[in-house]
Amino acid sequence: MSRQRRKLVYLLGFMGCGKSTVGKLLATELGWPFIDLDTVIEAGQGLSIRAIFENSGEVFFRQLERAALIETSKSEPAVIALGGGTFAQQPNVDFIRETGGITVWLDCPAEVLWARCENMDHRPLFRNAESFRCLLVDRLPYYRLADFRVSTEGLEPAGVAQQILRLGVF
Ligand code: S3P
Repeated sequence: MSRQRRKLVYLLGFMGCGKSTVGKLLATELGWPFIDLDTVIEAGQGLSIRAIFENSGEVFFRQLERAALIETSKSEPAVIALGGGTFAQQPNVDFIRETGGITVWLDCPAEVLWARCENMDHRPLFRNAESFRCLLVDRLPYYRLADFRVSTEGLEPAGVAQQILRLGVF
């Protein structure tokens, strides 16, 4: 088991749960850099996530995602917002655990996730109600492996960031 890295936090959860928004606020509060994994991947390819999926498919995207995860995990201190599928790949779960970083699942009610994702066209895995439900059901067992669960229900992003700060790990 690697040493605990209390200055490395991974935010995880389904598309639309607020990982990036909350992550930026949390990083500001902590005075740490914020890293958005999807942004790192897009910058590396010079393409949007949607274009990467369309041009090269999900398997290739997952390879890029894993490489970006390994690279960004060298940073400390850092707040890292994962993609919705990052922590739903067992090798990534194992890798993140080995880093000793803290994992926080932003648990958001399904109807809120749905409402947020419904009108966005930059999420290639968000297609319809059925695919949304299946993905969520598949991923919940992984998200539950996080060190901490923070319910976002009824909270603004700043309130979620405050909840994370109150976890007593910083
Ligand atoms: C994905 C979620 C997206 C992005 C990609 C795949 C997923 O990130 O990484 O479209 O598999 O759920 P967000 O959760 O930030 O939307």
